[in-house]
Amino acid sequence: MITIVGAGRVGVSAATFLMVRELDDITLIDIIPGRAEGEALDLGHAASILGLSIDIRGSSDYKDMTGSDLVIVTAGFPRKADMTREQLLQKNADVIKSVGEAIKEYAPNAVVLLTTNPLDMMAYGLWKVTGFERNRIIGFSGVLDGGRLAYYISRKLGVSPASIDPCVIGQHGQKMVVVPRLTFVGGKPLTEIASTSEIEEFKKATLDAGRKIIELRGWSSNHGPGAGLAIMAESIKKDQKKVFYASVYLDGEYGVNDVFAGVPVVLGRRGVEKIIELPLTDEEKKEFIESVNAIKKGVSELMQILKL
Ligand code: APR
Repeated sequence: MITIVGAGRVGVSAATFLMVRELDDITLIDIIPGRAEGEALDLGHAASILGLSIDIRGSSDYKDMTGSDLVIVTAGFPRKADMTREQLLQKNADVIKSVGEAIKEYAPNAVVLLTTNPLDMMAYGLWKVTGFERNRIIGFSGVLDGGRLAYYISRKLGVSPASIDPCVIGQHGQKMVVVPRLTFVGGKPLTEIASTSEIEEFKKATLDAGRKIIELRGWSSNHGPGAGLAIMAESIKKDQKKVFYASVYLDGEYGVNDVFAGVPVVLGRRGVEKIIELPLTDEEKKEFIESVNAIKKGVSELMQILKL
């Protein structure tokens, strides 16, 4: 069984993509009574219309995640205009604490995928709260950033995104590190087939993508994250061992310690089966370390809030 905690926009979008892939039965859980039940009923009707053989349940009780081998955490608050960064951190820290404790109690053997922002910090918090081995906590980041980068490259260069292998590492946020030299288009490095100004355009569009969606329609992205979560979940459930960019705990890899940051990993039944160390140049490494330092700064604030 797959449990999704947080039946908001991202959670429901993930449930929809998962449902059409018929991977496993789905339990949606939300803190607001009725919300997850209502979404599950609507999705259940959709599954019936499409003739899909999966069961979708909704609940407001964490106990109903019992028996899950995969828990996807999409609970949390998006930032409001009148909220400071600290207030958002405080609110989502509380969410991570209660959801983490529930996972530890009711799904102690599950692999956990997380989207709650600020992502790399929250992944660290969840790892601390659950006490799980590091391979079982995976932050959703580079699949979205890389997917967006591939989208913009594809539109400009006229190559399908399926033939583009984007490389975005480090923080999921303003300090993300786009690596054009390790972004491949039909096997060729982006640096060989796009001009410096085109590459800058791709980077900027990728960095601004989330904000642009909010500006246009008034709320943050959900279909991109939903789709990304579904393919990562599939690799875990079917033990496909595909490579994804995700925020994982680094313990010496890339020369950094005790931090969650985006790097390529192999995902399978045990969660993170392998961390892939990319051959970065000194300059790329420097950018990555700066990005990691920004995450570490946030993590120490979070640890104070969580008193861990
Ligand atoms: N337990 C369970 N559900 C919770 C909890 C909790 N402790 N706290 C909040 N929720 C639920 C809310 O009731 C809401 O239904 O999480 C859901 C969040 O949904 P949205 O507000 O629609 O937010 P969404 O756009 O889905 O984003 C969720 O993912 O991408 C990140 O930044 C985003 O942190 C945010 C998270």
